[in-house]
Amino acid sequence: MKLIVAMIQPHKLPDVKQALFDAEIYKMTVTNALGCGQQRGFTEAYRGVIHTINLLKKVRVEVAVNEASVEPTVAAITKGARTGNIGDGKIFILDLPECIRIRTGERGSEAIG
Ligand SMILES: Nc1ncnc2c1ncn2[C@@H]1O[C@H](COP(=O)(O)OP(=O)(O)OP(=O)(O)O)[C@@H](O)[C@H]1O
Ligand SMILES: [Mg+2]
Repeated sequence: MKLIVAMIQPHKLPDVKQALFDAEIYKMTVTNALGCGQQRGFTEAYRGVIHTINLLKKVRVEVAVNEASVEPTVAAITKGARTGNIGDGKIFILDLPECIRIRTGERGSEAIG
């Protein structure tokens, strides 16, 4: 199992949701976040000397999936979030050792799917 964590532009959340839905991926957690990447929160056009970082509003989308759904999930998030401009976001894929559905006690791929 993997935990897919995507940091995306907030305005792309509807497109990412739709792309996940189209790929039949319906379970997710979405959180508002602050972040910056390699531009340290400034735009590519900024030409001043940077003494600090600028934290920008981002949306964090988390999807826990079985192995078979990893690439479809990455593809859907990429399709929904990509504009081709800086700041489109990043996807992190983490190993996920366990998942437990509290109601039934199911574990692993039964609980996740
Ligand atoms: N190495 C990192 N560690 C933690 N969070 C990161 C990292 N890189 C990016 N992020 C998160 O992802 C968000 C989006 O990153 P962003 O798309 O700007 O990445 P980038 O590496 O700067 O690529 P680009 O040049 O396309 O902008 C950041 O605001 C931050 O929240
Ligand atoms: Mg960036």
